[in-house]
Amino acid sequence: MNPESEFIQRDRSLHPPALTPNYKTSVLRSPRIPLWSLQNSLSEVTGPTFRREELGPLDNDLILNYAKSGEPIGERIIVHGRVLDENGRGLPNTLVEVWQANAGGRYRHVNDRYLAPVDPNFGGCGRTLTDKDGYYFFRTVKPGAYPFRNQVNSWRPAHIHFSIFGTGFAQRLITQMYFEGDPLIRHDVIANTIPDPEAIERLIAPLDLSAAIPLDCLAYRFDIVLRGRRSTLFENKLQGN
Ligand SMILES: [Fe+2]
Repeated sequence: MNPESEFIQRDRSLHPPALTPNYKTSVLRSPRIPLWSLQNSLSEVTGPTFRREELGPLDNDLILNYAKSGEPIGERIIVHGRVLDENGRGLPNTLVEVWQANAGGRYRHVNDRYLAPVDPNFGGCGRTLTDKDGYYFFRTVKPGAYPFRNQVNSWRPAHIHFSIFGTGFAQRLITQMYFEGDPLIRHDVIANTIPDPEAIERLIAPLDLSAAIPLDCLAYRFDIVLRGRRSTLFENKLQGN
């Protein structure tokens, strides 16, 4: 952190209330008593550290990192962007982890019973470290929409889950990225727990044709801002970043 950087007050109005009954899961998950602030322990403030050598060469390539008998079915895409602080500076060496459903909307997870099939060549998980400018990229197939049990016809828009690690375990931030033009976003009870439409907009990655590879794959751009007026909304830090 640059000591000369301007301090930008967090905007608490950006975040959805913990209890949003339209999203039924929030009823049981929202706290009934005020939150306690706990002192971090040494292991939480001194770790983790991630070295480039610890990552495998295919960790940021979801098209190949689980391929068995061939490549996964689906629309091939690149997702890329920068992890930025509140003043627009890139954060180097930041671990970015992603997980997602396959092109049919099915997760490779024991609890996912959706009728769309598991893709034998798609695991749906990846990770990468930002470079010296805070830039990251990975390659994958576009995830499908999937239904979930909330109202009669509740569908998640296509999305990719993101985790961003800081320099301590207590700094892990989690969010979701959506895709430009997806008509399901406006019907999604989870995205719509966010009261500020502009904050939802910042979770929607625009198509980035300039980064698409001709005859190979499309690209979407997703910049992640850790704090400030353009902050990305993190679902595990609803009180502010
Ligand atoms: Fe999901």
